[in-house]
Amino acid sequence: MKKQIVLLPGDGIGPEILASSTSVLEAIASKFNHQFIFEHQLIGGSAIDKVNDPLPEQTILAAKRADAILLGAVGGPKWDNNPSHLRPERGLLGIRKALDLYANLRPVKGFKQLLHASPLKEAIINGSDLLIVRELTGGLYFGRPSERQNNGERVVDTLVYSRSEIERIVKKGFESAQLRRKKLTSVDKANVLESSKLWREVVEEQKANYPDVEVDHCLVDAAAMKLITQPNQFDVIVTENMFGDILSDEASVLTGSLGMLPSASLAENGVGLYEPAHGSAPDIAGKGIANPIAMILSSAMMLRYSFGLDKEANTIEAAVESCLDQGLHTADLHVSGGKRVSTKEMTEAIIKNISSINS
Ligand code: IPM
Ligand code: MG
Repeated sequence: MKKQIVLLPGDGIGPEILASSTSVLEAIASKFNHQFIFEHQLIGGSAIDKVNDPLPEQTILAAKRADAILLGAVGGPKWDNNPSHLRPERGLLGIRKALDLYANLRPVKGFKQLLHASPLKEAIINGSDLLIVRELTGGLYFGRPSERQNNGERVVDTLVYSRSEIERIVKKGFESAQLRRKKLTSVDKANVLESSKLWREVVEEQKANYPDVEVDHCLVDAAAMKLITQPNQFDVIVTENMFGDILSDEASVLTGSLGMLPSASLAENGVGLYEPAHGSAPDIAGKGIANPIAMILSSAMMLRYSFGLDKEANTIEAAVESCLDQGLHTADLHVSGGKRVSTKEMTEAIIKNISSINS
């Protein structure tokens, strides 16, 4: 199989972890006889520095032509005081919108080898395996107006959702649940927000189309608590943009580190952008100690969702799991024993495991 992949390294640790994942993909290509053609494009702070635009037109055009997109991370203190149109995050939000990547899938699976690396009790997180389906192109992130008024004395952000925007993500939630343990939890704030009331209505309407899925509603504050007290209660969570952002960072605690959490952002036409759920970690950028696993698992999601290469995706996941079995861990994982390794060492170990897996 021959595929064109656009690489958006971005800022901070983005370039380091993206390089890890392209070398892992090269190993997959040679093992399974595929050809992956990589094309680098600019996004975020590094794009601001080079061309004074967090999302150059050329990046959007290349992404639209590509078979899939891999993104490192954007942002950093260097651009914190920039005006809002020159913030790195604008690049990320802009590409999500430009490609209509409305469905963000964030699988959260507690690896047994890392149970003790979580600050939560092992008995609570043992067996947790859930998927957050986050709406990604609507809500507070994109509502207008969003501005300072009265010389900065008053600010306004706007939360807008249309019925069709809610419908497509809710359907994605149901479909995802059908492929898993058939349990869907819709998270909202329907006791307060108008948008959540419509959200709940849509879920109630749609459930007739998915009789095999058990569905319940949970208010976001209660969901935040349950996620770390009874994570095993969840299979698929479907929720709006901002709630999904917050809950997915919280859920990463189940896996021991945010550095373990991959994600896929998908459009209705099949285009996919894959990125770790973590940020650019500017404090450790350039030190060679970042955890590449979330990025590498994101590229496994790309193989599965965009190219239908299940065997190849499974191979990457198994290779990562073997590294954990071997006791390898990067500095973000507070595990006892084993061996602390650098980004490069972890990447090499994963590649070595890929070559020794029989598939
Ligand atoms: C994420 C990130 C982004 C978001 C930031 C960097 C804009 O936190 O992908 O979860 O809020 O969506
Ligand atoms: Mg986030």
